[in-house]
Amino acid sequence: MNHGNNQRLFINEVATRDGFQMEPHFIPTDDKIALIDRLGTLGYSKIEVTSFTSPKAIPALRDGEEVMARIARKPGVVYTALVPNLRGAERALDVRIDEFNIVMSTSETHNLSNLRMTRERSFAQLGEVIALARGAVVPVNVSLSCVFGCPMEGEVPQETVLGWIDRFAELAVKGITLCDTTGMAYPTQVQSLCGAAMTRHPQLEFTAHFHNTRAMGLVNSVAAVEAGIRRFDMSLGGIGGCPYAPGATGNVATEDVVHMLQCMGYDTGMDLDGLIGAAAQVAHLVRHDLSSQLPRAGHRLTKHQPPADFAEIVARAAARQSAKGSAKETLA
Ligand code: COA
Ligand code: ZN
Repeated sequence: MNHGNNQRLFINEVATRDGFQMEPHFIPTDDKIALIDRLGTLGYSKIEVTSFTSPKAIPALRDGEEVMARIARKPGVVYTALVPNLRGAERALDVRIDEFNIVMSTSETHNLSNLRMTRERSFAQLGEVIALARGAVVPVNVSLSCVFGCPMEGEVPQETVLGWIDRFAELAVKGITLCDTTGMAYPTQVQSLCGAAMTRHPQLEFTAHFHNTRAMGLVNSVAAVEAGIRRFDMSLGGIGGCPYAPGATGNVATEDVVHMLQCMGYDTGMDLDGLIGAAAQVAHLVRHDLSSQLPRAGHRLTKHQPPADFAEIVARAAARQSAKGSAKETLA
């Protein structure tokens, strides 16, 4: 059965932003560039290269300008970066960013912890970023954090989330990413919010962004795709997390989710073997094991050798079969 019906999905890689921002040691600039250049060949729609945040807040990505300036841009791939304020937008423009991925949280407590300002102040600053983007003809996507819950506040009401989406829609942004910052989403909630958001704003491009903190990342991805979401953020090896969200752990792993969606018949456009190779490079760069399963297991039709004594097993089974056969003949 082919439930996916070959529908096209659009995959965004966030390992080099959401992933690397959380790594305790600095990944050398040349290594970041080599990885991004490799990712450019694997079928991604978008690569979130870095963030233009305060180097004090996110020291791991303090080389954003150099990385953006030196990557080899593959035509057709959107090279985006996270932008928290006007200063970040100006930095991103200087290195010819393809899109601003502006960020704020739908939880007041998380916004204050992560961005050091109230949601209203973030919204006002991001309004200035949107105006700057319009002048420079750069599209804007808004990543809304904690839309499925906040690790400090608990539930974030769906009406609150929809209210922020409405306000950004009024500013004519291109897309909204629904971020499950600390893996609090569950499938029926995903269906409800994705459905409501898409019904209210059919003109917006919605992206789902799941973390696998409570092992619900894959089921939430299924819930989202079945609700009609066609764009997904994911991170090779399942690395990632927000350093200012308590208990944050990695994103859903690109190779695991792409494998699942391909099995379901969706056209992801991705080179799965290429992803497994790139995940090995990520493991080498971050110097720790990855949480993804596919590099260990292989894809579902990976064939394994039968046991070493398989020839003997077959011979014994055949002998047993024929002994049974002659016993039957004797009885008859
Ligand atoms: N890029 C580089 N430097 C920046 C900057 C940016 N986008 N925004 C502010 N700064 C600098 C200021 O120039 C100032 O520098 P100084 O101390 O040398 O004078 C310093 O940072 C403080 O500026 P201020 O405006 O007071 O910022 P803040 O301390 O209130 O921090 C943010 C606000 C948004 C810049 C910061 O919290 C941040 O970058 N957060 C990002 C968090 C993140 O990426 N989380 C994970 C992804 S969700
Ligand atoms: Zn994230």
